Order: sequence, then structure tokens, then C-alpha cells
Amino acid sequence: MSELAAKWTSNQSGRVAVVTGANSGIGLHAAIGLAAAGAQVILGCRDADRGAGALAEVRRAATEQEPLLLPLDLADLDSIARFAADVGRELPQLDLLVNNAGVMATPRRETAQGFELQFGTNHLGHFALTAQLMPLLKGSPTPRVVTVASLVHRIGRINFDDLNGREHYRRWGAYAQSKLANLLFAYELQSRAVHAGSSLLSLAAHPGYAHTNLQAVAPQMDGRVRHERLYAAVGKRTGQSAAMGALPTLYAATANLRPGAYVGPSGPGELRGEPRVVSSSSSSKDPSTRERLWSVSEELTRVSIAP
Ligand SMILES: NC(=O)c1ccc[n+]([C@@H]2O[C@H](COP(=O)([O-])OP(=O)(O)OC[C@H]3O[C@@H](n4cnc5c(N)ncnc54)[C@H](OP(=O)(O)O)[C@@H]3O)[C@@H](O)[C@H]2O)c1
Repeated sequence: MSELAAKWTSNQSGRVAVVTGANSGIGLHAAIGLAAAGAQVILGCRDADRGAGALAEVRRAATEQEPLLLPLDLADLDSIARFAADVGRELPQLDLLVNNAGVMATPRRETAQGFELQFGTNHLGHFALTAQLMPLLKGSPTPRVVTVASLVHRIGRINFDDLNGREHYRRWGAYAQSKLANLLFAYELQSRAVHAGSSLLSLAAHPGYAHTNLQAVAPQMDGRVRHERLYAAVGKRTGQSAAMGALPTLYAATANLRPGAYVGPSGPGELRGEPRVVSSSSSSKDPSTRERLWSVSEELTRVSIAP
């Protein structure tokens, strides 16, 4: 683990963590940091080969328990249910869930159950996953859920009349909606945990601007090779590293922070730097939007969360 990751990650000895999208970028570096700090890490990945490569890296970093790789496609509710069952078979309890996986600004596609891909993967997939891992999280004396959002949440709006972009689809609008949904979810989960008298902590994090595979996925999907190369070059030059981008997640996952805290980089514009607690838009905190999104998410995923 890098010195900086060690500085922002407290001891995780004896804790078990699930990290979604752990084969690349922020998720991979979060998994490495948690394993190096003593956690047993379960990597939830949709591609077996990419997952196996990441597993080897996390294994090299692990200081205590061996990491595990389990298949997880967040764009398929059936895969999410199988993953939760697999985790339950492997482990008696879960201490930390990092809802990290994501796709950005994709052409309009649908998940296995017909949700718009970004809303379905980034928000609904993690909503369903959290619901199904909740019984295991409740087995931990100090359960924690960290959801990875984005600065882009600030331009987001939850379009309840057309959540899945069937009538009108804008790729960045759909991404911003999904990242705003991540924050609304994180805050509502914390609020419900408090009301239920649960010790669960729900926090959120964002990486600023980090050079990862995120920017390349959409151009790959619609075959825009020049855009893919351009985004990669710009990201390399202007973004911080994926390892730096993972620091807010590691800090939110392990530090002694107030319930519901949101962590991002401390540099100008929150684009880069070491982590600190940051603020989010007023829309992300709106109680009626939070509750309405929660109910709609329960209806769409057909699961409910009882923290
Ligand atoms: N990089 C940034 O500047 C930035 C800024 C703000 C927020 N974020 C957020 O940070 C998080 C991580 O992104 P990243 O930058 O690290 O990008 P990344 O390198 O592309 O990593 C995204 C991860 O999510 C996985 N994923 C995508 N769709 C999935 C699905 N249906 N099921 C399971 N896993 C899936 C990817 O798997 P594959 O490898 O199989 O595609 C990959 O492991 C995302 O939530 C993103 O919105 C990133």
C-alpha cells in the first residue's frame, strides 16, 4: 500500500469488505488499500478474466485473510441476488460494503430488467445489492456502507416522470441523475438506520477527477475510437491517479467520521488531493426526493432495505 493510502486507511484487521467494480480504477485501489489494512476483501466483478487479474493484485497486497472473487453484474438483478447468496455462503457476516462500480455517459442501453443502463447499474443495482447484503451487514457490530458518487451530482435532477430516459435521453443527464441518486440513497439509508436504532453507518465519497477506465467505456460502446484515445490522453494529463482517487473512498470506509458524511478530495474544486469531508448540493439532501426515490427503487427492484 502506498504511504498516502496507509495514512488515510485505518486498521481493518478482522473486518470483511465487499467492493463492487473492484477490477479497475477506484474500486481496485480501494480493494488493495482495504486488504493491505487487514480486511478480507470480496471483489464483485462482472468479467472473470479482469476479475482474476485484480484478485492477484489484491492478494499481493493482503496482510491477513485471502481475498475472494465472486461474479457480480449490477446490470442484472438476478446476478445481484446470486452474488448476495454466494457471499452469504462464504461468510457469516459483512462489515463493509463499498458501492463503487459505475458506467458514465453511455449510449442508451438497458439492463437485463429493462432499466436505463446508468440509472440501473449505478443506482438501482447498488440499491438491490445493499438490500440483499443487509442481513449480513446486520451481523456486524459496526456495519458500514460507502457509496461512490461524483461532483457531477450537482447538475443532476431526478426525472421521476421518465427515470429510464425512454422519452428523452441525454447521456450526461442520465449519468448526473444516477450520481445524484447515489447521494440521495446514501443519506436516506443513514437516516433510516438512525430511526431503526441500527449502528449502521452510511457514508458517501467521490474521487474528484481521476484517470481511470471510466472515460473510455462509452466511446468503446459506440465505437468512437478517436474519442476514446482523446479522453485517455486528456485524463492522463489532467486527472489524478486512480490510487489518489481511491483515497476518499478509503477514508470514508475506515475513518471515524460522522454518520452520513460525504468525503472528496481537498484540492481546488475538489478535483484532486487528499481527502476531507465535503458538502453536497441541496437537492441531494431533500427529504421528499430521498423518500420518493427510495420508494420507487423498492418498487423497481422488488426488494426492500431494513437497516
Ligand atoms: N474517475 C473519475 O474521475 C470519477 C469521478 C467521479 C465519480 N467516479 C465514480 O467512481 C466509480 C468507479 O469508477 P472508476 O473511475 O474507477 O472507473 P472504472 O475504472 O471504469 O471502474 C468502474 C468499475 O465498475 C465496473 N462495472 C461497470 N458496470 C458494471 C456492472 N454492470 N456490473 C459490475 N461491475 C460493473 C467496471 O467493470 P468492467 O471493468 O468489467 O467494466 C469497473 O470495475 C464509479 O461509480 C464512478 O461513477 C469516478
